[in-house]
Amino acid sequence: MVRIIPLPTNAITGKPSPLETFVAILVLCILGFYTLYYPYPVSTSTAIDLFLSSASNSTISSYLRSLTLHPHLAGTKLAADTTRLVINHFRSLNLPTHTTTYTTLLSYPLHSSVSLHFPNGSVLNLPLTEPVHFSDQTGQPVVQPYHAYSPSGSAYARAVFVNYGRERDYRALRAQGVHVSGCVVVVRKGGGLGRGAVVEKAEENGAVAVLVYGDGDTWRDGFERGHVMRGVGDPLSPGWAGVDGGETLGLDDSEVSKRFPKIPSLPLSAEVAETVLGSLGGAPVPLEWRGTLGSKVRHVGPGPTMLNFSYQGEKKVATIQNVFAVIKGCEEPDRYVLLGNHRDAWTFGAVDPSSGTAALLDIARRFSILLGSGWTPRRSIILCSWDAEEFGMIGSTEWVEQNLINLSPKAVAYLNVDCAVQGPGLFVGSTPQLDNLIVEVTKKVKDPDSEGASIYENWAVTGEDYNIQRLSAVDSDFAPFVQHAGVPSIDVYYGRDFPVYHTAYDSYNWMTEYGDPFFQRHVAVTGIWGLLALHLADDSILPFNYVSYANQLLSYKNKLSNLLDQQVSLHPLTMSIQEFASAAKQVDDESKQLRLQETAGDIVDMKKRALNDRLILAEKGFLDADGLHGRQWFKHLVFGPPRDQENKLDFFPGIADSITQGSSKATSERERVAAIQHEIWRVARAIQTAASALKGEFT
Ligand SMILES: *[C@@H]1O[C@H](CO)[C@@H](O)[C@H](O)[C@H]1NC(C)=O
Ligand SMILES: *[C@@H]1O[C@H](CO)[C@@H](O)[C@H](O)[C@H]1NC(C)=O
Ligand SMILES: *[C@@H]1O[C@H](CO)[C@@H](O)[C@H](O)[C@H]1NC(C)=O
Repeated sequence: MVRIIPLPTNAITGKPSPLETFVAILVLCILGFYTLYYPYPVSTSTAIDLFLSSASNSTISSYLRSLTLHPHLAGTKLAADTTRLVINHFRSLNLPTHTTTYTTLLSYPLHSSVSLHFPNGSVLNLPLTEPVHFSDQTGQPVVQPYHAYSPSGSAYARAVFVNYGRERDYRALRAQGVHVSGCVVVVRKGGGLGRGAVVEKAEENGAVAVLVYGDGDTWRDGFERGHVMRGVGDPLSPGWAGVDGGETLGLDDSEVSKRFPKIPSLPLSAEVAETVLGSLGGAPVPLEWRGTLGSKVRHVGPGPTMLNFSYQGEKKVATIQNVFAVIKGCEEPDRYVLLGNHRDAWTFGAVDPSSGTAALLDIARRFSILLGSGWTPRRSIILCSWDAEEFGMIGSTEWVEQNLINLSPKAVAYLNVDCAVQGPGLFVGSTPQLDNLIVEVTKKVKDPDSEGASIYENWAVTGEDYNIQRLSAVDSDFAPFVQHAGVPSIDVYYGRDFPVYHTAYDSYNWMTEYGDPFFQRHVAVTGIWGLLALHLADDSILPFNYVSYANQLLSYKNKLSNLLDQQVSLHPLTMSIQEFASAAKQVDDESKQLRLQETAGDIVDMKKRALNDRLILAEKGFLDADGLHGRQWFKHLVFGPPRDQENKLDFFPGIADSITQGSSKATSERERVAAIQHEIWRVARAIQTAASALKGEFT
């Protein structure tokens, strides 16, 4: 029977505008009559129309307002309030909701100070916190700028400017006779190295402390917080879930201590960095190192000014919580589409991650409207709200480690949204079998910045290249899903490189003034996220295209061949990619055939299920039980971070590692070639395994 339900009033404050309410009720009425005459389950296309028509920018903006009323740093009392807000929202929509709890190691600051001691004896204490810019910052202390997991320590030493802190920057300094051993290095962000890698390189070069600043044109008094831990997930339970009462390693265990830097570090604002750098003498600053620095900065140091650096922090065992809302599928409840976003923030987190959390809350609201109309997805959908992402993807990683056995056969896809809205323009990353689905979905969602156009029209560039990135980096919660568990995944965001990243200015007012004044970009991201989920949960044959994957692998092989010398043979890769491409073609033909049979009214349910299982399993073929050499947690041999972040290869991380490994140390040419060749064979075998999963038959 038809139930015309009132629009769910959400847990927080948001109410749709009268026009939006009218449109939604109109659609519900039309749907109501439709189901009255056709008492069948609501079709996917009807569900999609209803989903799109239930968009509401005012509702999302009210969610974002509630989420950003106070800071919500993982492990703090205020973060627990945000957890409750998300739970209450899901429950108010009658979505079955549960949480998972972990005991993990987090890290907080106690005291920090940096001062300059000039040769004439005067001392300048440098400011290490942000001034208030926005009214919504007042009376809401955010955590002082720090690097989580930095050791405590102090240094009274000369400073040296080392540009981006890459190996080649240190080399350039040495060529000028400048050595950083025993000095505090000042590094600007943006050269491709993550925060942790910057500190690691400084340590290798003999520095005693590190100051890192963001080199932007605007918001130059903001400090970028962040963690400097190596690896992914809780350091005390590496590779397994940190459940209460489970095994935890001690802080002095070498597996744990190797994940933390040995020298302390702190973030600086660009303004403060300029003061420090302006006091240096010594060799001249190379022109290309200047970035946005003012004319007072002329020399790289070291000295003559002395820098007094001091940082004290504490590592603390804390409880974190993931929140889940589950929509059970009707036909294949044991197949899951996962939508995930983290909830914890360094400060107010309007962009990072609350724009994504607001989108997640809105997806919940809109899916519950669909449920009220009589729709039930074919497969199950889980909305996941992760904790402690900012400390190294901890909430999602612990959950993936805990659920690996069930994730492997049953997770259809993981759809990640982190900093949902940073500015204009759609950005997407994915594993390649999802490319076609992404393109199709962008055709159905309105471009928030271009009247009357779909996102697709302004986003797709000419030809086959749709500007979709790959998921090799470790910078959001997709990392454990792709790189550890081999779950097909997508990451979606609007805008990139927003200037208030991890500063106190990442607040609701920044969003309404700069990021998304009308919340239409929020609506666009939510539209894409929801439609991806609806197709993956409802399409009877999964919308996966492995031909796209084969093409991507082929282009990687070609890039490699330009890079490697004659002694290394790419033949194993060539053969395995051919085999994979033909399996992809075969499975594509089979899907078309099945669709025809389905249209003709044949019963093909078990056949579809068998085909879908092959499509899900294929991604696991790229995993290797032994993982990357020396970094066993990373199992995926196609997508993952290279050990050396200066390495430009953002695919085949094992091969990338073997190339840099060989070129550095005392390995003979023969050993170097053998190591690269071995990694090529491993990748070739992984691609063959994926092909064999696609074919689904024994040899
Ligand atoms: C000492 O030198 C610094 C930097 O050149 C300058 O800003 C400061 O005014 C000087 N102080 C005195 C007392 O001369
Ligand atoms: C450096 O700073 C620390 C902490 O603020 C302070 O205790 C110490 O006396 C300072 N050292 C010098 C040489 O000023
Ligand atoms: C919603 O969008 C409309 C049209 O762009 C705009 O006038 C309105 O201010 C927006 N509402 C919010 C809360 O941003």
